[in-house]
Amino acid sequence: MSSADNKPLEMAVFCNTCSRGLADLKDNQSRISFVSKILPPFLSQADLFRKILQNIIEKAPYPKIEKPTMFVNEVILHLDPEGLFSLRMFLWRPGEYDPIHDHNSWGVIGPVSGKLEVINYRRLDRDSTSRTRLVEKERGIIEPGGYYHVLPLYKGIHQTGNPTRRSMIQIGIYGQRQTKRNYINTYDLASGRISPLYSPKVVKRQLAESALLNLKNARPTATA
Ligand SMILES: [Fe+2]
Repeated sequence: MSSADNKPLEMAVFCNTCSRGLADLKDNQSRISFVSKILPPFLSQADLFRKILQNIIEKAPYPKIEKPTMFVNEVILHLDPEGLFSLRMFLWRPGEYDPIHDHNSWGVIGPVSGKLEVINYRRLDRDSTSRTRLVEKERGIIEPGGYYHVLPLYKGIHQTGNPTRRSMIQIGIYGQRQTKRNYINTYDLASGRISPLYSPKVVKRQLAESALLNLKNARPTATA
């Protein structure tokens, strides 16, 4: 059984619960606390995630893997119509990690299967937008049934990945954007360089803008 947008019913019910629960919460701590309670039991539904993976392989209408995402291993499972949260799946090959990065909102993440490693970093200075010094604060392995939360900007600089030799599934719920940025920052630990990472959609707009500018400045083509 599925909802109007082809979501499996269990997925639609969970998104509804999440939406209703978050609607009245006014601060990040209560949002994180609420989602931390409902996410682990949801992630224990192996049959649901088996179905979603099968759908992707069989090119079924849900989930829409063509929706643009920041990372290639990321699949959008739900975007709340009120913008309160998004539900995303990350599929990790053995040994793969994302770059050290920050977020524009709060988030709660956890594995459906396998083990997820999370490494937290602290920024020693916050003056520069192009360079900084990071120190590792803590690292941990999250197993199914567990969860981890992130906070916006410098309060939540981290890296996640799969420390094992088997592919794994991670799910994340992220809140409404709480910054003016349309990008996240990635951090190079060795050099301290900070680089903005834009979604493919934003990059396409930026490329179109600069190409259009160039086209406007171009001399008209001579006609015979
Ligand atoms: Fe993250």
